[in-house]
Amino acid sequence: MPITPTPKIWMNGSLVDWDQANIHVLTHTLHYGMGVFEGIRAYETADGPGIFRLTEHIERLFRSAAILMMEIPYTVQEIVEATKETVASTGLPGCYIRPIAYYGYGEMGLNTLPCSVDVAIACWPWGAYLGDDAVTKGVRMKISSWTRHDHNTMPPASKTTGNYVNSSLAKVEALKAGYDEAIMLNQQGLVSECTGENIFVARGPALITPPLSAGALEGITQHSVMTIARDLGFDARFGELTRSDLYVADEMFVCGTAAEVSAVNSVDDRDIPCPGPMTTSIAQEYARTVRGEVDRYKEWCEHVG
Ligand SMILES: Cc1ncc(COP(=O)(O)O)c(C=O)c1O
Repeated sequence: MPITPTPKIWMNGSLVDWDQANIHVLTHTLHYGMGVFEGIRAYETADGPGIFRLTEHIERLFRSAAILMMEIPYTVQEIVEATKETVASTGLPGCYIRPIAYYGYGEMGLNTLPCSVDVAIACWPWGAYLGDDAVTKGVRMKISSWTRHDHNTMPPASKTTGNYVNSSLAKVEALKAGYDEAIMLNQQGLVSECTGENIFVARGPALITPPLSAGALEGITQHSVMTIARDLGFDARFGELTRSDLYVADEMFVCGTAAEVSAVNSVDDRDIPCPGPMTTSIAQEYARTVRGEVDRYKEWCEHVG
């Protein structure tokens, strides 16, 4: 997806011009994939841009870093404020936000302990990740031939840049085969998640999503959707899913900051009712929530000004 430049990028404490936000080709993370990042969205709300669950995203960034033993030289609050400053500098009513912490220039080799840690925050306008009609028409899914990395290889709890090699392999495989997105199974053969989204499957009265132990990222949208679903009266819970559970799902959707709530219309060419009533009501409530229109979730929108 092409990037639309915005005026400024925050780098190590100050806003620099978009074109000046450059790094050296020997930047450590470029070579070894040891960086941590977040994907966040700011939405247009009645009170100006509202950054959805900003503090929780930055807290997860710091947890990702802790798993890698990477010391970010700022506090959570400093990165929260820097993110707001960056969003404000764009003048946009809403945007996608990408904070990244990475090992910088100066050291080579796999010992990261002496490496400096740099932080950057960029924002740009970004539409619906799985397409504008993903909520209504749904997306076509393929179970990937690639296995989700597990807790003792590349910890899925950390949103590490290098983890996304696994995701990209699966994504490209699915696209080349004519599908929209891939579903990753873990080493036990159970459903984990998609390449950049968590999965929810309705079977009977239950709405089931695989937990971190299945190799899924602890999604902030997953948490928001579970809260919304329960408040709407649905029986949303963590649980194991097999690929057959997907083939006979009553309904299914995927969710993430980039994809928001996107319905699924088929898995491996087995049609799934789409969009189901549960999916539709959750997607509608989520869309209102991120825009600050639902009182009970108002604190999830962190305003810039
Ligand atoms: C692998 C993976 N799973 C799930 C998600 C959804 O997480 P969130 O809702 O916090 O964006 C993402 C996106 O960050 C992801 O990259």
